[in-house]
Amino acid sequence: MSKDKKEQGTPTKKQKKTLKSLLPVLSFILPYKKVVTGAILALLFTSAVSLSLGQGIKLLIDAGFDADSAEALSQAMVVMITLIALLAIGTFIRFYLMTWIGERVSADIRKAVFNRLVILHPSYFEENMSGEIMSRLTTDTTLLQSIIGSSFSMALRSSLMLIGGLIMMFITNLKLTLIVIAVVPVVMFPMMYFGRKVRTLSKESQDSIADIGTSAGEVIQNIKVVQSYVLEEFEKSAFSQEVEIAFNVAKRRIKQRSILIATVIFMSFGSLSVMLWSGGMDVINGTITAGELAAFIFYAMMVGTSVGTVAEVYGELQRAAGASERILELMSVEPLIVGPKKPQQIKRDSKTIIEFDKVTFHYPSRPDIAALNNISLKIDQGKSVALVGPSGAGKTTIFELLQRFYDPQQGQIRFKDIELKNMQPESLRCHMGMVPQQPVLFSSDVWHNIRYGNINASDEDVIQAAKAAHAHEFIEKLPQGYSSFLGEKGVRLSGGQKQRIALARAILKDPELLLLDEATSALDAESEHHVQAAVNHLMKDRTTIIIAHRLATVIHADLIVLMDQGKILDIGKHNELLKRSSLYQRLCELQFEQPST
Ligand SMILES: Nc1ncnc2c1ncn2[C@@H]1O[C@H](COP(=O)(O)OP(=O)(O)O)[C@@H](O)[C@H]1O
Ligand SMILES: [Mg+2]
Repeated sequence: MSKDKKEQGTPTKKQKKTLKSLLPVLSFILPYKKVVTGAILALLFTSAVSLSLGQGIKLLIDAGFDADSAEALSQAMVVMITLIALLAIGTFIRFYLMTWIGERVSADIRKAVFNRLVILHPSYFEENMSGEIMSRLTTDTTLLQSIIGSSFSMALRSSLMLIGGLIMMFITNLKLTLIVIAVVPVVMFPMMYFGRKVRTLSKESQDSIADIGTSAGEVIQNIKVVQSYVLEEFEKSAFSQEVEIAFNVAKRRIKQRSILIATVIFMSFGSLSVMLWSGGMDVINGTITAGELAAFIFYAMMVGTSVGTVAEVYGELQRAAGASERILELMSVEPLIVGPKKPQQIKRDSKTIIEFDKVTFHYPSRPDIAALNNISLKIDQGKSVALVGPSGAGKTTIFELLQRFYDPQQGQIRFKDIELKNMQPESLRCHMGMVPQQPVLFSSDVWHNIRYGNINASDEDVIQAAKAAHAHEFIEKLPQGYSSFLGEKGVRLSGGQKQRIALARAILKDPELLLLDEATSALDAESEHHVQAAVNHLMKDRTTIIIAHRLATVIHADLIVLMDQGKILDIGKHNELLKRSSLYQRLCELQFEQPST
Protein backbone atom coordinates (compact mmCIF):
# COMPACT_ATOMS: atom_id res chain seq x y z
CA MET A 1 0.00 0.00 0.00
CA SER A 2 2.55 2.52 1.13
CA LYS A 3 4.80 1.44 -1.72
CA ASP A 4 2.07 2.34 -4.20
CA LYS A 5 1.69 5.74 -2.66
CA LYS A 6 5.39 6.36 -2.85
CA GLU A 7 5.45 5.52 -6.53
CA GLN A 8 2.58 7.80 -7.28
CA GLY A 9 4.17 10.50 -5.22
CA THR A 10 7.55 10.54 -6.95
CA PRO A 11 6.83 12.62 -10.05
CA THR A 12 5.77 15.60 -8.00
CA LYS A 13 8.50 15.19 -5.40
CA LYS A 14 11.03 15.63 -8.14
CA GLN A 15 12.34 19.13 -7.79
CA LYS A 16 13.34 21.43 -10.55
CA LYS A 17 16.55 23.20 -9.79
CA THR A 18 15.53 26.46 -11.38
CA LEU A 19 14.56 29.31 -9.15
CA LYS A 20 12.55 30.70 -12.07
CA SER A 21 9.48 28.85 -10.85
CA LEU A 22 9.45 31.19 -7.87
CA LEU A 23 8.65 34.14 -10.13
CA PRO A 24 4.87 33.59 -10.24
CA VAL A 25 4.83 33.87 -6.44
CA LEU A 26 5.75 37.51 -6.98
CA SER A 27 2.22 38.19 -8.20
CA PHE A 28 0.99 37.24 -4.73
CA ILE A 29 3.52 39.57 -3.09
CA LEU A 30 2.71 42.50 -5.35
CA PRO A 31 -0.48 43.63 -3.57
CA TYR A 32 1.60 44.31 -0.48
CA LYS A 33 4.08 46.69 -2.07
CA LYS A 34 4.05 49.06 0.90
CA VAL A 35 4.88 46.35 3.43
CA VAL A 36 7.61 45.00 1.18
CA THR A 37 9.12 48.47 0.81
CA GLY A 38 9.03 48.91 4.58
CA ALA A 39 10.69 45.55 5.11
CA ILE A 40 13.43 46.28 2.58
CA LEU A 41 14.12 49.69 4.11
CA ALA A 42 14.38 48.09 7.55
CA LEU A 43 16.70 45.51 6.05
CA LEU A 44 19.00 48.13 4.54
CA PHE A 45 18.96 50.05 7.78
CA THR A 46 19.88 47.06 9.96
CA SER A 47 22.61 46.01 7.55
CA ALA A 48 24.15 49.50 7.66
CA VAL A 49 23.98 49.53 11.47
CA SER A 50 25.53 46.07 11.71
CA LEU A 51 28.41 47.19 9.54
CA SER A 52 28.98 50.32 11.57
CA LEU A 53 29.19 48.18 14.71
CA GLY A 54 32.69 47.24 13.54
CA GLN A 55 33.67 50.89 13.64
CA GLY A 56 32.17 51.11 17.15
CA ILE A 57 34.39 48.23 18.27
CA LYS A 58 37.40 49.92 16.76
CA LEU A 59 36.54 53.14 18.59
CA LEU A 60 35.96 51.28 21.84
CA ILE A 61 39.35 49.61 21.74
CA ASP A 62 41.52 52.32 20.24
CA ALA A 63 39.99 55.33 22.00
CA GLY A 64 39.21 53.52 25.24
CA PHE A 65 41.55 50.64 26.12
CA ASP A 66 44.63 51.70 24.25
CA ALA A 67 44.39 55.38 25.21
CA ASP A 68 43.81 54.33 28.83
CA SER A 69 41.10 56.97 28.93
CA ALA A 70 38.01 56.12 31.01
CA GLU A 71 36.09 59.05 29.57
CA ALA A 72 36.74 58.07 25.95
CA LEU A 73 35.85 54.48 26.79
CA SER A 74 32.51 55.62 28.23
CA GLN A 75 31.81 57.77 25.18
CA ALA A 76 32.61 54.88 22.85
CA MET A 77 30.34 52.73 24.99
CA VAL A 78 27.45 55.16 24.51
CA VAL A 79 28.00 55.07 20.75
CA MET A 80 27.99 51.26 20.84
CA ILE A 81 24.82 51.03 22.90
CA THR A 82 23.08 53.50 20.60
CA LEU A 83 24.06 51.45 17.56
CA ILE A 84 22.89 48.26 19.23
CA ALA A 85 19.56 49.84 20.17
CA LEU A 86 19.07 51.00 16.59
CA LEU A 87 19.93 47.51 15.40
CA ALA A 88 17.33 46.00 17.75
CA ILE A 89 14.59 48.37 16.62
CA GLY A 90 15.42 47.86 12.96
CA THR A 91 15.48 44.12 13.41
CA PHE A 92 12.08 44.20 15.12
CA ILE A 93 10.57 46.03 12.17
CA ARG A 94 12.32 43.90 9.56
CA PHE A 95 11.43 40.61 11.23
CA TYR A 96 7.82 41.59 11.85
CA LEU A 97 7.19 42.86 8.31
CA MET A 98 9.02 40.02 6.56
CA THR A 99 7.24 37.31 8.53
CA TRP A 100 3.94 39.13 8.04
CA ILE A 101 4.45 39.02 4.28
CA GLY A 102 5.27 35.32 4.43
CA GLU A 103 2.13 34.50 6.41
CA ARG A 104 -0.07 36.82 4.34
CA VAL A 105 1.12 35.47 1.01
CA SER A 106 0.76 31.85 2.02
CA ALA A 107 -2.75 32.56 3.34
CA ASP A 108 -3.62 34.14 -0.02
CA ILE A 109 -2.10 31.22 -1.92
CA ARG A 110 -4.07 28.72 0.19
CA LYS A 111 -7.29 30.55 -0.58
CA ALA A 112 -6.47 30.75 -4.28
CA VAL A 113 -5.70 27.01 -4.43
CA PHE A 114 -8.90 26.09 -2.58
CA ASN A 115 -11.01 28.43 -4.71
CA ARG A 116 -9.66 26.68 -7.78
CA LEU A 117 -10.18 23.19 -6.32
CA VAL A 118 -13.89 23.62 -5.55
CA ILE A 119 -14.74 24.60 -9.12
CA LEU A 120 -12.82 21.73 -10.74
CA HIS A 121 -14.62 18.94 -12.54
CA PRO A 122 -15.09 15.83 -10.35
CA SER A 123 -13.07 13.58 -12.67
CA TYR A 124 -9.97 15.58 -11.72
CA PHE A 125 -10.22 14.14 -8.22
CA GLU A 126 -10.51 10.62 -9.57
CA GLU A 127 -7.19 10.96 -11.33
CA ASN A 128 -5.41 12.77 -8.49
CA MET A 129 -5.17 11.43 -4.97
CA SER A 130 -6.77 13.64 -2.38
CA GLY A 131 -3.79 13.17 -0.02
CA GLU A 132 -1.47 14.56 -2.65
CA ILE A 133 -3.75 17.55 -3.24
CA MET A 134 -4.09 18.21 0.47
CA SER A 135 -0.32 18.17 0.91
CA ARG A 136 -0.03 20.84 -1.76
CA LEU A 137 -2.60 22.93 0.05
CA THR A 138 -0.89 22.61 3.44
CA THR A 139 2.75 21.47 3.30
CA ASP A 140 3.78 23.24 0.12
CA THR A 141 2.18 26.52 1.12
CA THR A 142 3.81 26.31 4.55
CA LEU A 143 7.16 25.82 2.86
CA LEU A 144 6.59 28.90 0.73
CA GLN A 145 5.56 30.82 3.82
CA SER A 146 8.81 30.05 5.63
CA ILE A 147 10.81 30.85 2.52
CA ILE A 148 9.18 34.20 1.86
CA GLY A 149 8.98 35.09 5.53
CA SER A 150 12.42 34.05 6.67
CA SER A 151 14.82 32.43 4.23
CA PHE A 152 14.38 35.06 1.59
CA SER A 153 15.00 37.86 4.03
CA MET A 154 18.01 35.96 5.39
CA ALA A 155 19.41 35.61 1.90
CA LEU A 156 18.95 39.29 1.21
CA ARG A 157 20.46 40.35 4.51
CA SER A 158 23.39 37.97 4.21
CA SER A 159 24.14 39.13 0.67
CA LEU A 160 24.21 42.73 1.85
CA MET A 161 26.40 41.82 4.83
CA LEU A 162 28.67 39.82 2.58
CA ILE A 163 29.25 42.68 0.19
CA GLY A 164 29.36 45.35 2.88
CA GLY A 165 31.62 43.26 5.09
CA LEU A 166 34.04 42.59 2.23
CA ILE A 167 34.25 46.29 1.41
CA MET A 168 34.87 47.15 5.05
CA MET A 169 37.55 44.44 5.23
CA PHE A 170 39.37 45.90 2.25
CA ILE A 171 39.14 49.36 3.78
CA THR A 172 40.34 48.16 7.18
CA ASN A 173 43.29 46.05 6.08
CA LEU A 174 44.29 44.93 2.61
CA LYS A 175 46.87 42.31 3.54
CA LEU A 176 44.64 40.45 6.00
CA THR A 177 41.77 40.59 3.51
CA LEU A 178 43.85 38.87 0.86
CA ILE A 179 44.81 36.15 3.34
CA VAL A 180 41.13 35.59 4.21
CA ILE A 181 40.09 35.42 0.58
CA ALA A 182 42.76 32.80 -0.03
CA VAL A 183 41.59 30.77 2.97
CA VAL A 184 37.82 30.95 2.28
CA PRO A 185 37.65 28.22 -0.41
CA VAL A 186 39.61 25.85 1.86
CA VAL A 187 37.05 26.39 4.62
CA MET A 188 34.04 26.43 2.33
CA PHE A 189 34.70 23.27 0.37
CA PRO A 190 34.21 20.71 3.19
CA MET A 191 31.27 22.71 4.51
CA MET A 192 29.48 22.65 1.18
CA TYR A 193 30.27 18.98 0.67
CA PHE A 194 28.94 17.78 4.00
CA GLY A 195 26.18 20.37 3.96
CA ARG A 196 24.78 18.94 0.74
CA LYS A 197 24.92 15.40 2.14
CA VAL A 198 23.05 16.50 5.24
CA ARG A 199 20.40 18.19 3.11
CA THR A 200 19.64 15.14 0.98
CA LEU A 201 19.49 12.99 4.07
CA SER A 202 17.15 15.43 5.83
CA LYS A 203 14.78 15.20 2.92
CA GLU A 204 14.92 11.41 2.97
CA SER A 205 14.33 11.58 6.68
CA GLN A 206 11.28 13.81 6.26
CA ASP A 207 9.85 11.49 3.63
CA SER A 208 10.21 8.45 5.84
CA ILE A 209 8.58 10.31 8.73
CA ALA A 210 5.70 11.17 6.39
CA ASP A 211 5.38 7.48 5.54
CA ILE A 212 5.16 6.65 9.23
CA GLY A 213 2.35 9.17 9.56
CA THR A 214 0.44 7.74 6.61
CA SER A 215 0.59 4.14 7.74
CA ALA A 216 -0.27 4.96 11.35
CA GLY A 217 -3.17 7.11 10.15
CA GLU A 218 -4.53 4.30 8.04
CA VAL A 219 -4.43 1.81 10.89
CA ILE A 220 -6.09 4.24 13.28
CA GLN A 221 -8.85 5.06 10.84
CA ASN A 222 -9.55 1.41 10.25
CA ILE A 223 -8.94 0.22 13.79
CA LYS A 224 -12.08 -1.91 13.85
CA VAL A 225 -11.01 -3.89 10.80
CA VAL A 226 -7.52 -4.35 12.24
CA GLN A 227 -8.87 -5.63 15.54
CA SER A 228 -11.60 -7.76 14.06
CA TYR A 229 -9.07 -9.57 11.87
CA VAL A 230 -6.76 -9.76 14.92
CA LEU A 231 -3.90 -8.19 12.99
CA GLU A 232 -2.60 -5.98 15.80
CA GLU A 233 0.67 -7.91 15.96
CA PHE A 234 1.06 -7.74 12.19
CA GLU A 235 0.45 -3.99 12.16
CA LYS A 236 2.80 -3.54 15.10
CA SER A 237 5.68 -5.19 13.31
CA ALA A 238 4.89 -3.44 10.03
CA PHE A 239 4.89 -0.12 11.84
CA SER A 240 8.03 -0.97 13.76
CA GLN A 241 9.78 -1.65 10.46
CA GLU A 242 8.82 1.76 9.12
CA VAL A 243 10.03 3.44 12.30
CA GLU A 244 13.37 1.61 12.13
CA ILE A 245 13.84 2.66 8.51
CA ALA A 246 13.30 6.25 9.56
CA PHE A 247 15.73 5.83 12.43
CA ASN A 248 18.42 4.45 10.16
CA VAL A 249 18.07 7.38 7.79
CA ALA A 250 18.23 9.72 10.77
CA LYS A 251 21.37 7.95 12.02
CA ARG A 252 23.15 8.57 8.73
CA ARG A 253 21.99 12.15 8.81
CA ILE A 254 23.23 12.90 12.30
CA LYS A 255 26.58 11.30 11.49
CA GLN A 256 27.06 13.63 8.53
CA ARG A 257 25.78 16.51 10.58
CA SER A 258 28.22 15.80 13.43
CA ILE A 259 31.09 15.71 10.94
CA LEU A 260 29.82 18.97 9.48
CA ILE A 261 29.70 20.69 12.86
CA ALA A 262 33.15 19.43 13.86
CA THR A 263 34.62 20.56 10.54
CA VAL A 264 33.02 23.96 10.80
CA ILE A 265 34.32 24.46 14.33
CA PHE A 266 37.85 23.39 13.45
CA MET A 267 38.01 25.34 10.20
CA SER A 268 36.42 28.54 11.43
CA PHE A 269 38.15 28.80 14.78
CA GLY A 270 41.39 27.56 13.20
CA SER A 271 41.37 30.25 10.57
CA LEU A 272 40.30 32.78 13.18
CA SER A 273 43.38 31.89 15.26
CA VAL A 274 45.66 32.18 12.24
CA MET A 275 44.13 35.56 11.51
CA LEU A 276 44.59 36.64 15.12
CA TRP A 277 48.20 35.48 15.04
CA SER A 278 49.03 37.20 11.79
CA GLY A 279 47.10 40.36 12.76
CA GLY A 280 48.61 40.27 16.25
CA MET A 281 52.10 40.27 14.71
CA ASP A 282 51.12 43.40 12.79
CA VAL A 283 49.81 45.04 15.96
CA ILE A 284 53.14 44.25 17.70
CA ASN A 285 55.02 45.66 14.70
CA GLY A 286 52.79 48.72 14.90
CA THR A 287 51.51 48.48 11.32
CA ILE A 288 47.88 48.38 12.57
CA THR A 289 46.07 49.31 15.77
CA ALA A 290 44.42 46.76 18.07
CA GLY A 291 41.05 48.36 17.28
CA GLU A 292 41.60 47.86 13.56
CA LEU A 293 42.38 44.20 14.13
CA ALA A 294 39.25 43.73 16.26
CA ALA A 295 37.11 45.50 13.67
CA PHE A 296 38.67 43.39 10.95
CA ILE A 297 37.93 40.17 12.77
CA PHE A 298 34.37 41.36 13.34
CA TYR A 299 33.94 41.93 9.61
CA ALA A 300 35.61 38.66 8.70
CA MET A 301 33.24 36.75 10.95
CA MET A 302 30.31 38.63 9.47
CA VAL A 303 31.41 37.72 5.97
CA GLY A 304 32.02 34.12 6.98
CA THR A 305 28.58 33.58 8.49
CA SER A 306 26.97 35.38 5.56
CA VAL A 307 28.61 33.04 3.07
CA GLY A 308 27.34 30.10 5.13
CA THR A 309 23.83 31.49 5.28
CA VAL A 310 23.65 32.26 1.58
CA ALA A 311 24.75 28.73 0.73
CA GLU A 312 22.22 27.23 3.11
CA VAL A 313 19.38 29.45 1.99
CA TYR A 314 20.08 28.75 -1.65
CA GLY A 315 19.18 25.12 -1.01
CA GLU A 316 15.98 26.18 0.67
CA LEU A 317 15.06 28.48 -2.18
CA GLN A 318 15.37 25.51 -4.49
CA ARG A 319 12.97 23.52 -2.33
CA ALA A 320 10.59 26.47 -2.40
CA ALA A 321 10.84 26.57 -6.18
CA GLY A 322 9.66 22.95 -6.19
CA ALA A 323 6.77 23.77 -3.85
CA SER A 324 5.79 26.79 -5.89
CA GLU A 325 5.83 24.72 -9.04
CA ARG A 326 3.52 22.09 -7.55
CA ILE A 327 1.09 24.72 -6.30
CA LEU A 328 1.02 26.54 -9.60
CA GLU A 329 0.50 23.29 -11.44
CA LEU A 330 -2.60 22.79 -9.35
CA MET A 331 -3.84 26.30 -9.98
CA SER A 332 -3.37 26.06 -13.71
CA VAL A 333 -5.78 23.13 -14.08
CA GLU A 334 -8.70 24.41 -16.14
CA PRO A 335 -12.19 23.29 -15.08
CA LEU A 336 -13.71 21.16 -17.83
CA ILE A 337 -17.31 21.82 -16.86
CA VAL A 338 -17.99 25.49 -17.50
CA GLY A 339 -20.97 27.52 -18.58
CA PRO A 340 -21.25 29.00 -22.10
CA LYS A 341 -20.46 32.65 -22.84
CA LYS A 342 -24.15 33.39 -23.37
CA PRO A 343 -26.07 31.02 -21.13
CA GLN A 344 -29.72 30.40 -21.96
CA GLN A 345 -32.26 31.03 -19.23
CA ILE A 346 -34.21 28.03 -18.04
CA LYS A 347 -37.86 28.26 -19.04
CA ARG A 348 -40.65 28.27 -16.50
CA ASP A 349 -42.74 25.60 -18.14
CA SER A 350 -42.04 22.86 -20.55
CA LYS A 351 -43.75 19.53 -21.00
CA THR A 352 -40.58 17.46 -21.08
CA ILE A 353 -38.27 18.18 -18.20
CA ILE A 354 -35.48 15.77 -19.09
CA GLU A 355 -34.43 14.40 -22.42
CA PHE A 356 -31.51 12.12 -23.22
CA ASP A 357 -30.89 12.07 -26.96
CA LYS A 358 -28.64 9.21 -28.16
CA VAL A 359 -26.21 9.74 -25.30
CA THR A 360 -23.00 7.74 -25.16
CA PHE A 361 -20.61 8.27 -22.30
CA HIS A 362 -17.28 6.82 -21.21
CA TYR A 363 -15.74 7.78 -17.86
CA PRO A 364 -12.44 9.55 -18.60
CA SER A 365 -10.60 7.04 -16.41
CA ARG A 366 -12.15 4.09 -18.29
CA PRO A 367 -12.24 5.08 -21.94
CA ASP A 368 -12.60 1.50 -23.19
CA ILE A 369 -16.03 0.76 -21.67
CA ALA A 370 -19.16 2.78 -22.39
CA ALA A 371 -20.90 3.46 -19.07
CA LEU A 372 -23.87 4.68 -21.13
CA ASN A 373 -24.42 3.42 -24.64
CA ASN A 374 -26.78 5.28 -26.98
CA ILE A 375 -29.32 6.21 -24.32
CA SER A 376 -32.53 7.96 -25.38
CA LEU A 377 -35.07 8.85 -22.73
CA LYS A 378 -37.79 11.45 -22.29
CA ILE A 379 -39.26 12.33 -18.91
CA ASP A 380 -42.34 14.52 -18.57
CA GLN A 381 -42.93 17.06 -15.87
CA GLY A 382 -44.44 15.67 -12.70
CA LYS A 383 -43.80 12.00 -13.39
CA SER A 384 -42.00 9.58 -11.14
CA VAL A 385 -39.56 7.34 -12.96
CA ALA A 386 -37.77 4.33 -11.57
CA LEU A 387 -34.40 3.25 -12.94
CA VAL A 388 -33.82 -0.43 -12.38
CA GLY A 389 -31.10 -2.81 -13.44
CA PRO A 390 -28.25 -4.90 -12.10
CA SER A 391 -25.35 -3.13 -10.47
CA GLY A 392 -23.02 -1.55 -13.01
CA ALA A 393 -25.91 -0.92 -15.41
CA GLY A 394 -25.22 2.83 -15.50
CA LYS A 395 -28.02 4.10 -13.26
CA THR A 396 -25.88 6.33 -11.06
CA THR A 397 -24.07 7.54 -14.18
CA ILE A 398 -27.40 8.91 -15.47
CA PHE A 399 -27.60 11.06 -12.33
CA GLU A 400 -24.02 12.25 -12.71
CA LEU A 401 -24.60 13.35 -16.28
CA LEU A 402 -27.90 15.03 -15.40
CA GLN A 403 -26.10 17.19 -12.87
CA ARG A 404 -23.39 17.78 -15.45
CA PHE A 405 -20.48 16.46 -13.44
CA TYR A 406 -19.35 15.00 -16.76
CA ASP A 407 -20.19 15.74 -20.38
CA PRO A 408 -21.21 12.89 -22.68
CA GLN A 409 -18.94 12.15 -25.64
CA GLN A 410 -21.91 11.74 -27.98
CA GLY A 411 -25.52 12.86 -27.98
CA GLN A 412 -27.29 15.58 -26.05
CA ILE A 413 -28.94 15.96 -22.70
CA ARG A 414 -31.62 18.60 -22.38
CA PHE A 415 -33.26 20.12 -19.34
CA LYS A 416 -36.55 21.80 -20.26
CA ASP A 417 -35.56 21.74 -23.94
CA ILE A 418 -32.23 23.47 -23.37
CA GLU A 419 -29.03 21.54 -23.84
CA LEU A 420 -27.09 21.31 -20.58
CA LYS A 421 -23.99 22.81 -22.21
CA ASN A 422 -25.96 25.94 -23.06
CA MET A 423 -26.82 26.82 -19.50
CA GLN A 424 -24.91 27.77 -16.40
CA PRO A 425 -24.07 24.55 -14.46
CA GLU A 426 -24.98 26.30 -11.19
CA SER A 427 -28.47 27.32 -12.34
CA LEU A 428 -29.05 23.80 -13.66
CA ARG A 429 -28.09 22.28 -10.30
CA CYS A 430 -30.34 24.73 -8.45
CA HIS A 431 -33.29 22.96 -10.05
CA MET A 432 -32.21 19.53 -8.90
CA GLY A 433 -31.99 17.84 -5.56
CA MET A 434 -29.84 14.76 -5.20
CA VAL A 435 -30.11 12.22 -2.42
CA PRO A 436 -27.18 9.84 -2.80
CA GLN A 437 -27.22 6.16 -1.95
CA GLN A 438 -24.82 6.75 0.92
CA PRO A 439 -25.95 9.86 2.78
CA VAL A 440 -23.17 12.41 2.96
CA LEU A 441 -22.87 14.19 6.28
CA PHE A 442 -20.34 16.81 7.29
CA SER A 443 -18.60 16.71 10.66
CA SER A 444 -20.75 19.43 12.12
CA ASP A 445 -24.09 19.75 13.90
CA VAL A 446 -27.58 18.90 12.67
CA TRP A 447 -28.35 22.53 11.82
CA HIS A 448 -25.47 22.76 9.42
CA ASN A 449 -26.12 19.37 7.87
CA ILE A 450 -29.76 20.06 7.05
CA ARG A 451 -29.18 23.68 6.13
CA TYR A 452 -26.80 22.51 3.42
CA GLY A 453 -29.96 22.23 1.32
CA ASN A 454 -30.54 25.97 1.63
CA ILE A 455 -27.91 28.00 3.42
CA ASN A 456 -30.32 30.89 4.01
CA ALA A 457 -33.10 28.84 5.61
CA SER A 458 -34.36 29.97 9.00
CA ASP A 459 -34.23 27.67 12.04
CA GLU A 460 -37.97 27.25 11.71
CA ASP A 461 -37.61 26.06 8.09
CA VAL A 462 -34.94 23.57 9.12
CA ILE A 463 -37.18 22.14 11.81
CA GLN A 464 -40.11 21.93 9.35
CA ALA A 465 -37.92 20.03 6.89
CA ALA A 466 -36.75 17.69 9.66
CA LYS A 467 -40.35 17.05 10.65
CA ALA A 468 -41.29 16.29 7.04
CA ALA A 469 -38.35 13.91 6.85
CA HIS A 470 -39.47 12.13 10.03
CA ALA A 471 -36.20 13.18 11.62
CA HIS A 472 -37.41 15.74 14.14
CA GLU A 473 -38.25 13.17 16.79
CA PHE A 474 -34.85 11.49 16.94
CA ILE A 475 -32.98 14.79 16.58
CA GLU A 476 -34.79 16.13 19.65
CA LYS A 477 -33.57 13.11 21.58
CA LEU A 478 -29.93 13.74 20.71
CA PRO A 479 -27.89 15.14 23.62
CA GLN A 480 -27.92 18.73 22.34
CA GLY A 481 -30.87 18.46 19.96
CA TYR A 482 -30.25 20.26 16.69
CA SER A 483 -26.90 21.52 17.92
CA SER A 484 -25.56 18.02 18.44
CA PHE A 485 -22.29 17.34 16.73
CA LEU A 486 -22.68 14.38 14.38
CA GLY A 487 -19.06 13.23 14.34
CA GLU A 488 -16.91 12.63 11.31
CA LYS A 489 -19.19 11.57 8.41
CA GLY A 490 -22.03 11.30 10.91
CA VAL A 491 -20.62 8.24 12.72
CA ARG A 492 -22.86 8.95 15.69
CA LEU A 493 -26.06 8.19 13.76
CA SER A 494 -27.61 4.96 12.52
CA GLY A 495 -28.02 4.31 8.79
CA GLY A 496 -31.71 5.16 8.76
CA GLN A 497 -31.13 8.35 10.74
CA LYS A 498 -28.42 9.50 8.37
CA GLN A 499 -30.76 8.92 5.45
CA ARG A 500 -33.48 10.99 7.04
CA ILE A 501 -31.06 13.88 7.62
CA ALA A 502 -30.10 13.65 3.94
CA LEU A 503 -33.79 13.64 2.99
CA ALA A 504 -34.49 16.65 5.21
CA ARG A 505 -31.72 18.47 3.39
CA ALA A 506 -33.36 17.73 0.04
CA ILE A 507 -36.77 18.75 1.38
CA LEU A 508 -35.28 22.07 2.46
CA LYS A 509 -33.84 22.61 -1.01
CA ASP A 510 -37.30 21.98 -2.47
CA PRO A 511 -36.01 21.14 -5.95
CA GLU A 512 -38.09 20.87 -9.09
CA LEU A 513 -36.47 17.60 -10.04
CA LEU A 514 -35.56 15.05 -7.42
CA LEU A 515 -32.81 12.51 -8.01
CA LEU A 516 -33.03 9.77 -5.46
CA ASP A 517 -30.58 6.92 -5.22
CA GLU A 518 -32.36 4.48 -2.99
CA ALA A 519 -30.27 2.93 -0.26
CA THR A 520 -29.49 -0.72 -0.85
CA SER A 521 -28.75 -1.60 2.74
CA ALA A 522 -31.77 -3.01 4.48
CA LEU A 523 -33.15 -0.99 7.38
CA ASP A 524 -35.12 -2.31 10.31
CA ALA A 525 -38.89 -2.10 9.93
CA GLU A 526 -39.23 1.00 12.09
CA SER A 527 -36.54 2.98 10.22
CA GLU A 528 -37.83 1.68 6.94
CA HIS A 529 -41.25 3.07 7.71
CA HIS A 530 -39.88 6.49 8.60
CA VAL A 531 -37.58 6.68 5.61
CA GLN A 532 -40.39 5.63 3.29
CA ALA A 533 -42.70 8.28 4.73
CA ALA A 534 -39.98 10.91 4.26
CA VAL A 535 -39.41 9.81 0.67
CA ASN A 536 -43.14 9.95 -0.07
CA HIS A 537 -43.28 13.48 1.27
CA LEU A 538 -40.33 14.49 -0.84
CA MET A 539 -41.75 12.95 -4.03
CA LYS A 540 -45.13 14.59 -3.71
CA ASP A 541 -45.87 17.03 -6.56
CA ARG A 542 -42.50 16.91 -8.22
CA THR A 543 -40.69 15.10 -10.97
CA THR A 544 -38.66 12.30 -9.46
CA ILE A 545 -36.15 9.89 -10.82
CA ILE A 546 -35.41 7.07 -8.41
CA ILE A 547 -32.78 4.44 -8.69
CA ALA A 548 -34.98 1.77 -7.20
CA HIS A 549 -33.90 -1.20 -5.17
CA ARG A 550 -37.23 -2.08 -3.64
CA LEU A 551 -40.35 -3.52 -5.15
CA ALA A 552 -42.67 -1.03 -3.43
CA THR A 553 -40.97 1.88 -5.14
CA VAL A 554 -40.99 0.21 -8.52
CA ILE A 555 -44.68 -0.65 -8.39
CA HIS A 556 -45.68 2.91 -7.63
CA ALA A 557 -43.57 4.52 -10.35
CA ASP A 558 -45.27 6.02 -13.41
CA LEU A 559 -42.58 4.60 -15.60
CA ILE A 560 -39.89 2.01 -15.15
CA VAL A 561 -36.66 2.18 -17.14
CA LEU A 562 -34.87 -1.14 -17.27
CA MET A 563 -31.13 -0.82 -17.82
CA ASP A 564 -28.26 -3.22 -18.28
CA GLN A 565 -24.62 -2.65 -19.29
CA GLY A 566 -25.14 0.99 -20.21
CA LYS A 567 -28.18 0.35 -22.40
CA ILE A 568 -31.89 0.86 -21.92
CA LEU A 569 -33.50 -2.52 -22.49
CA ASP A 570 -37.11 -1.60 -21.94
CA ILE A 571 -39.43 1.12 -20.69
CA GLY A 572 -42.91 0.50 -19.32
CA LYS A 573 -45.12 -0.21 -16.36
CA HIS A 574 -44.43 -2.92 -13.81
CA ASN A 575 -46.96 -5.37 -15.20
CA GLU A 576 -45.88 -4.81 -18.79
CA LEU A 577 -42.22 -5.39 -17.99
CA LEU A 578 -43.05 -8.41 -15.88
CA LYS A 579 -44.73 -9.93 -18.91
CA ARG A 580 -42.17 -9.19 -21.56
CA SER A 581 -38.73 -9.02 -19.90
CA SER A 582 -36.97 -12.01 -18.45
CA LEU A 583 -34.29 -9.80 -16.87
CA TYR A 584 -37.00 -7.84 -15.11
CA GLN A 585 -38.59 -11.03 -13.84
CA ARG A 586 -35.29 -12.19 -12.47
CA LEU A 587 -34.64 -8.80 -10.82
CA CYS A 588 -38.03 -8.92 -9.20
CA GLU A 589 -37.39 -12.38 -7.85
CA LEU A 590 -33.80 -11.86 -6.71
CA GLN A 591 -32.85 -8.29 -6.26
CA PHE A 592 -35.77 -6.27 -5.05
CA GLU A 593 -36.34 -6.70 -1.38
CA GLN A 594 -39.90 -7.31 -0.39
CA PRO A 595 -41.42 -4.34 1.39
CA SER A 596 -40.66 -4.95 5.01
CA THR A 597 -44.07 -4.03 6.38
N1 LIG B 1 -16.00 7.34 -11.51
C1 LIG B 1 -15.95 6.30 -12.34
N2 LIG B 1 -14.86 6.09 -13.10
C2 LIG B 1 -14.81 5.05 -13.94
N3 LIG B 1 -15.78 4.17 -14.10
C3 LIG B 1 -16.89 4.31 -13.38
C4 LIG B 1 -17.04 5.39 -12.45
N4 LIG B 1 -18.25 5.28 -11.87
C5 LIG B 1 -18.83 4.19 -12.41
N5 LIG B 1 -18.02 3.61 -13.32
C6 LIG B 1 -18.34 2.43 -14.15
O1 LIG B 1 -19.43 2.76 -14.97
C7 LIG B 1 -20.35 1.69 -15.04
C8 LIG B 1 -21.72 2.15 -14.57
O2 LIG B 1 -21.65 2.47 -13.20
P1 LIG B 1 -22.86 3.00 -12.36
O3 LIG B 1 -23.57 4.05 -13.13
O4 LIG B 1 -22.33 3.42 -11.03
O5 LIG B 1 -23.75 1.71 -12.20
P2 LIG B 1 -25.03 1.46 -11.30
O6 LIG B 1 -25.32 2.71 -10.54
O7 LIG B 1 -26.10 1.08 -12.27
O8 LIG B 1 -24.68 0.33 -10.41
C9 LIG B 1 -19.77 0.57 -14.19
O9 LIG B 1 -19.13 -0.32 -15.08
C10 LIG B 1 -18.78 1.26 -13.30
O10 LIG B 1 -17.70 0.41 -13.01
MG1 LIG C 1 -25.31 3.03 -8.41
